[in-house]
Amino acid sequence: MLSPVRPPFSREFPADFLWGCATSSYQIEGGTADGGRGESIWDRFCRQPGAIRDGSSGEPACDHYHRWEEDLDLAAALGVRAYRFSIAWPRIFPNGIGSRPNPEGLAFYSRLVDGMLKRGLQPWATLYHWDLPQALQERGGWLNRSTIGAFSDFARVMGDQLGDRVQHWITHNEPWCTAMLGHHLGVHAPGLRDFRAAMQVSHHLLVSHGEAVRALRSAAPSAKVGITLSLHPIRPASNRPADLAAAVRHDGLRNRWFLDPLFGKGYPDDVLSALGEEAPRIVDGDLCRIASPCDFLGVNYYFPETVADAPEGGALRTQVIESGDGPHTAMGWPVDAQGMVELLERVQRDYAPPALYLTENGACYEDVMGQDGRVTDLQRQRFLADHIAAAHQALRVGVPLKGYFVWSLLDNFEWAEGYGKRFGLVHVDYATQQRRLKASGEWLRSFLRTERVMS
Ligand code: FCB
Repeated sequence: MLSPVRPPFSREFPADFLWGCATSSYQIEGGTADGGRGESIWDRFCRQPGAIRDGSSGEPACDHYHRWEEDLDLAAALGVRAYRFSIAWPRIFPNGIGSRPNPEGLAFYSRLVDGMLKRGLQPWATLYHWDLPQALQERGGWLNRSTIGAFSDFARVMGDQLGDRVQHWITHNEPWCTAMLGHHLGVHAPGLRDFRAAMQVSHHLLVSHGEAVRALRSAAPSAKVGITLSLHPIRPASNRPADLAAAVRHDGLRNRWFLDPLFGKGYPDDVLSALGEEAPRIVDGDLCRIASPCDFLGVNYYFPETVADAPEGGALRTQVIESGDGPHTAMGWPVDAQGMVELLERVQRDYAPPALYLTENGACYEDVMGQDGRVTDLQRQRFLADHIAAAHQALRVGVPLKGYFVWSLLDNFEWAEGYGKRFGLVHVDYATQQRRLKASGEWLRSFLRTERVMS
């Protein structure tokens, strides 16, 4: 049994360090047929037999579409100062494109943002957290270059509508996942299994990021804009030269494939040559589009990966292997807070972004509710304390880390895992939609209170 964790190192984070929590539209909203919302690729994907472990979908999820006031109250009560949410594109353009955005969709996010501001929460809006309008998928989705233009139109409309109140914008959440999980491994919407398509999609996503940055800035000149990547420290399975080289190749596709072009270095040569025929088609000017200057880089950190050389392991001939007996979360992800320090230092050293935010970090455990209705999730508490300590260590070694967002405010629909995997600071009883703050949430609140008092 773990002992309760005391709030660590008070007074040591800068006074303006931004504490937040994060959610995403499809994972919490429900209300999929409300307010004129169109179908998304996740609505469609969830209907495929076997696609979601428990056969569920994002309906009703946390019914946040109707319960958002209570949810913002919960976020504010934690003492965080920022709330990261995403905008469901099919609520704004039910068909993906058009000259008239859906007024009910706009009104929902406008109320939500006003609700944040009223509670002292700084809104952080993500434009794409994976819920593409199905109508665009019918035309090829991210594989079709015209989706880039549709995305920047969507970005412009949102900047126009909310730019007077939302200062911080994230274009894409984890483009690696959209490309690879959605188009190569087939475990996320739209469920394709085509590596070459996935590589083309990754390129279109990056170009669409750059175009959306420009669109947002033209609609809201004072907007602070960035992108969020899922990054992983990559470790070789052994000191054998073959494994060392495999780790470099894997890092190439996982991390550098996205970081290098975003920071003006173009795609990494080693990955391009490993891809050969499967490399994406790049139009003149694309690399320049991708490298539109940003205000910050968002990093989602969950775990490191250990990689071995594997002649059968796809274009890159690599394989991710089990990482030993150390602690793992209920997702099977190794727990490694030091990996986060290592990763942030590396990003800073190799790319020097103007600012860095941890836009997601958190953990899934098998929560148990006691007779008294309390969830005493000490493992999550420990995970957060260790990773917050790691954030602090990163600051001490000079990483320009400006904020930390916990994933997630609420238990929610964990994509292909359905509702079985819980990441929330707040427990959600899906039968009744009752919310209960977990021990980890209480811990965070008391940690932030100490921070507030001291800073
Ligand atoms: C990230 C996603 C987020 C959530 C967490 C657990 O990859 O951005 O939506 O699923 O993992």
